[in-house]
Amino acid sequence: MSTTININDSTIVKEIVANNFQTAKVFEKYGIDFCCKGNRPLTKAAEERKINISELIGELVSVSKNNKEKSERYDEWDLVFLSNYIVNNHHAYVREAIPRIQEHLEKVENRHGKTHTHMIDVNKLFRQISDEMISHMHKEEKVLFPIVKYLHDCKTFNEKPKTGGYGTIKNPINAMENEHIGAGGIMESIRELTDNYTLPEDACTTFTLTNKELEEFEQDLHKHVHLENNILFPKAINLEEELLKISK
Ligand SMILES: [Fe+2]
Repeated sequence: MSTTININDSTIVKEIVANNFQTAKVFEKYGIDFCCKGNRPLTKAAEERKINISELIGELVSVSKNNKEKSERYDEWDLVFLSNYIVNNHHAYVREAIPRIQEHLEKVENRHGKTHTHMIDVNKLFRQISDEMISHMHKEEKVLFPIVKYLHDCKTFNEKPKTGGYGTIKNPINAMENEHIGAGGIMESIRELTDNYTLPEDACTTFTLTNKELEEFEQDLHKHVHLENNILFPKAINLEEELLKISK
């Protein structure tokens, strides 16, 4: 039976989202980073964004209470199921969205680049994040997630895992976390350049659609990074540590 955590000043941001993903909407509304910078107490995140802490707690509690049954309990899933979910849901979305958004950004740059020059930079940044994400997902699917699966199998058979050329799982995880910081930073720059995805008055249909697609891409990235940084990775590290204690 799942429980709702008690939310107060010192509750850690990532734990609130891990307990109920519906709370991500509240953090997004206030521009609080819950994925790459989620390891902070609520009071610190509120101070940084100059938000009234009592109001923030009130909103988080209300969202948690009202939407508990609608939220998937990702933190209760087994690690192989969660990593498959990330691949089948988030990685598949990124692979489908990249060529679509790139095509739309090309059109926007060609039609509006002279009057809205920031869209030239947005297009360049999106090409950069596209390349980085394709390589990042490949590393996760070919290197990191198979290690997670191996550890999961070791647990099933109560076997001590053999550590490979990667040392411990912390090493590939650190590398992936650094890449998440890079990707998050690029999407933050896109958000700033577009003034929080504000559309100019003369925006055509493609411009409007592209703006929406970029915002959706950023939201998906936040969820994807949250599931890895705040749930999958710490659990995989704990599992490996636990299994390495097996004497045989
Ligand atoms: Fe990732």
